[in-house]
Amino acid sequence: MRRPPALGCCRATPVPCPGRCGRGAGLALALLALLLLLLATQRRLGLELSRTPTRLQAPRPPTTEAPELVTRSPHLTPAPSLPPNLGDTYGRDETSRSSECPSSIRKRITGTEFGAAFLATVPVLQWAQHLREDEYRRLRRYGGAHGWKDVSWDVLKTSLSLLNTSASGLLVDSGQAAAPCVRCAVVGNGGILNGSRVGAAIDAHHLVFRVNGAITAGFEGDVGNRTSFYVFSTNTLVNALGSYAADGFKHPPRSPETRYVFLPDHDRDYLLLRAALTHQRVDRGRDKGVWPQEFFGEDLRADKFRMLHPDFIRYLRNRFLRSDILATPLWQLYRPSTGAVMLLAAIHTCDEVSAFGFMTPGYRAYSDHYFDRGHKEVQFYVNHDLKLEMRLWQRLQRSGLLRLYTGTEGT
Ligand SMILES: *[C@@H]1O[C@H](CO)[C@@H](O)[C@H](O)[C@H]1NC(C)=O
Ligand SMILES: *[C@@H]1O[C@H](CO)[C@@H](O)[C@H](O)[C@H]1NC(C)=O
Ligand SMILES: *[C@@H]1O[C@H](CO)[C@@H](O)[C@H](O)[C@H]1NC(C)=O
Repeated sequence: MRRPPALGCCRATPVPCPGRCGRGAGLALALLALLLLLLATQRRLGLELSRTPTRLQAPRPPTTEAPELVTRSPHLTPAPSLPPNLGDTYGRDETSRSSECPSSIRKRITGTEFGAAFLATVPVLQWAQHLREDEYRRLRRYGGAHGWKDVSWDVLKTSLSLLNTSASGLLVDSGQAAAPCVRCAVVGNGGILNGSRVGAAIDAHHLVFRVNGAITAGFEGDVGNRTSFYVFSTNTLVNALGSYAADGFKHPPRSPETRYVFLPDHDRDYLLLRAALTHQRVDRGRDKGVWPQEFFGEDLRADKFRMLHPDFIRYLRNRFLRSDILATPLWQLYRPSTGAVMLLAAIHTCDEVSAFGFMTPGYRAYSDHYFDRGHKEVQFYVNHDLKLEMRLWQRLQRSGLLRLYTGTEGT
């Protein structure tokens, strides 16, 4: 079984400064270390980018019209304060399940502090319908998880076109959850779950979301055993397999109800999706030779897979998790964490959301993960802003849009 090495640029880079280095010399040293680390990361990224061949063969435009104007929709509401490079305009989908739930989050959010940020028509998922040349011209302006800059038209076309079932466009569909008010449990991997005994409560939701190194075997009492959606990027999945194998993470959860939700931040994700849906090994790139069955098991039907839309990730970054990192030269490294994207995707598609194992103000009392063997301090990463995410969970909780599990911390 072939395991590619971790990707340099996006490998979660721990900053050795968890919480306690808040004073004097400790702080200065930590800042210096952080600066060096940031510089090193930036240099690595620079190398990574310059080595990436520009395979952006744009499809020939069918006409000679100015391409950028084709998709610039006047009905979108750009926030004037956002720098243009952040791309605060988005496509429009009418594909969210129309909920009959009178108290759905989508109905309630407009009356909260998030009402102005929320866009009811932002595309959450991408699939075959988005394969359009004008969309490619619009989205190839944005790199990483935020657009299609890092994926060639050919790879995009031969992968997304396979996501063509009626299920491809809906995260929560009536086939999976028929109730009028769909209740979702979104499970992070935080140490707060150790000893929580909330496993049965998690499993009692209509749908259960999990992320990255989601180990359930042996932890069912605390985290449950169902997985309706497993959310990952190829990079975070491969890293989790490398880092948590010894803790028992051998592959993503597999059960008849499990759906695999890609957060694409590289062409690796499109290549792995294509390999899975054509039942072949990954045929090029960093994961060349990998059998998709190693990750997802034998059931590789198209309706087992979903892929998040880059507009959705950019929208979350710009409007919900606009970190100060975006104002620094490292802004292109930054994206919301995979767990944060998972929780916000649930908030945009479920009627009610409860979050378990996400960071709370008392995080120092817990190990990084519930499955850690022995206490490990929570790790912070240069490409995410976990403290900003933690504050967002608190605000969503206060707005009544999220039930956040806080253990014995109270609320
Ligand atoms: C989806 O794509 C596959 C592969 O190209 C094709 O065989 C299948 O007929 C398509 N299904 C639909 C519903 O269009
Ligand atoms: C989960 O646990 C329940 C009860 O403990 C059991 O009946 C069920 O088979 C388990 N499901 C899976 C997918 O392991
Ligand atoms: C999990 O909880 C048990 C019981 O309180 C404790 O002994 C163990 O050290 C904890 N594990 C971690 C990783 O904190």
